[in-house]
Parts: sequence; C-alpha cells; structure tokens
Amino acid sequence: MANDERGISTTERTLISPNVIDGMTLMGGQDTIECVTGAEAKTRGISPTFLGLLGAEPLAGLTVLDVGTGWGRLALELAPRCRRIVGIDREPSLIEDARRRAAAAGIANAEFVVADAEAGEYQAFTPGMVVAHLCMSDAIVERAGRALAPGRVFGFVAFEAEQWRETGRRSRFAYDESRARAVLDTNGFAVEHLEVDRESQRYDSLEAALAAVVGLEEKWRSDGRWFRYIKYLEEGGRMLTRSHLIVKARRR
Ligand SMILES: C[S@@+](CC[C@H](N)C(=O)[O-])C[C@H]1O[C@@H](n2cnc3c(N)ncnc32)[C@H](O)[C@@H]1O
Repeated sequence: MANDERGISTTERTLISPNVIDGMTLMGGQDTIECVTGAEAKTRGISPTFLGLLGAEPLAGLTVLDVGTGWGRLALELAPRCRRIVGIDREPSLIEDARRRAAAAGIANAEFVVADAEAGEYQAFTPGMVVAHLCMSDAIVERAGRALAPGRVFGFVAFEAEQWRETGRRSRFAYDESRARAVLDTNGFAVEHLEVDRESQRYDSLEAALAAVVGLEEKWRSDGRWFRYIKYLEEGGRMLTRSHLIVKARRR
C-alpha cells in the first residue's frame, strides 16, 4: 500500500483466479474475509478495510440504512453488530431474497424494503448511519446528507474510474477521488478515509480471460463493453482491473 501526496492510498494486488457472483467480479482466494466481529463468520467480497471502518463506529446503538442492498450481503453482515438495519433496493426479487436469507440466518433486526434510493428521502428510516456497497450516485449522497445528523457516518464502496479499464469505457457509476470529495463536501460531509482498492488480474490464456467475465457478458453486451473487451483480448491483452473507492465520511 502506498500513499501519494494527496493522502490517497492505493492497494495494488495481483490475484490468482476470479469468480463472478451476481454480476460482480470477486477474486478467488481474496473474497473470504473476517467479518467486523473478528469471529468465525465470513463475508464474501466485501473489503475488510470497509468493514473495519464501519465496525469502528458504535453500531450497537445505531439504525443503519444500507442503500442498494441487493440480496443483503452487507446488511446481513452488519446486522449482528447493529441495533437495527434497513436494506433498500429497487429490485423486488432481491429484497425477497434478502428477507429469505435473513430468516434462514435467524436475523430478526434486519428489515428489507423495496424503494428507489434516488427518489424518496431517507429520514423515514431514521438512520444513524448510511452505508452503500457498489450502489452510488450524487442523488444518494444528497439524501444521506439530508438524513444524517452532525457527527453521523456515511460509508460506501463505489466503482472507481479505473474499474474494468480494459473494456475501454468508464462506468457511469464510477467516481474518482476528486469527484467523490467534491460531492461529499457539497453535501456536508468531511472525508475521514478515502482509499483506492485496485486489483489487476492477469490471465494465462484467452479462455481464462473469457471465463472470468462470463457472468458479465449480458450486461457488457448491452452497454457496449463486451466487444471492446473481446477486441482487447484479440490484440493479446490478458488483464482485468477491478478498482473500488472505499470511503468513510462524517456529517459536519
Ligand atoms: C452492484 S449491486 C450491489 C448490491 C449490494 N450492495 C452488494 O454489494 O451485494 C447494486 C444494487 O443497487 C441496486 N440499485 C441500483 N440503483 C438503485 C436505486 N435507484 N434504488 C435502489 N436500488 C438501486 C440494484 O438493484 C442492485 O441490487
């Protein structure tokens, strides 16, 4: 890990074999981590740095709002540490899945609600903390800023500008450091931690490079990335980059 002059820290890792789960690339051998409790429980694909930043807050007394919760991956991880957690997502099938998983795990303090995170306000959920894992937009930052009292934390992981750079197209959801800092500042947050977590995977063969993104083919075909990535592979490219911003900000 290196810190540059702007105080941003960048982690570069070369990993062994990737998996693709729910449209997100998870790196084999790195996707099972200690949860915030430090106990035996494991979480797949959530940065231990991010969990550590959240775990440093007094979660036991807090209602946490997980924006874009999906099937509740982060929410179910945090639930044992929080007073209450509410996960919102606009996809009803994912919310159903999250509810099923919470019930199967015997988690009673997690609630999952179908909601558009960029339409309504968050005050109704009375959050003492807002978190978002790979679901980020200026509209979400604005709503977190309006819902959180001074001193409260907004923590998120977002695609960083270099995410999947080999596909030749920057994600419209991606943030670079300066854009993230600007939108947080505008909405009343002081940044306490901002880190780029970047992993570059090299594949030995064309087949391995294609196998790594098989779960992304449909999505990448629809947004034009697929053909660019195939061209990159045909020209001999064998890399795939995952790049996330990990941020913890506190309401001023
Ligand atoms: C990449 S997934 C991340 C899911 C989950 N946070 C995780 O890390 O497993 C992004 C999620 O954000 C949800 N999402 C995107 N835009 C949304 C919006 N405007 N309101 C609510 N959910 C949204 C999607 O339905 C999807 O479940």
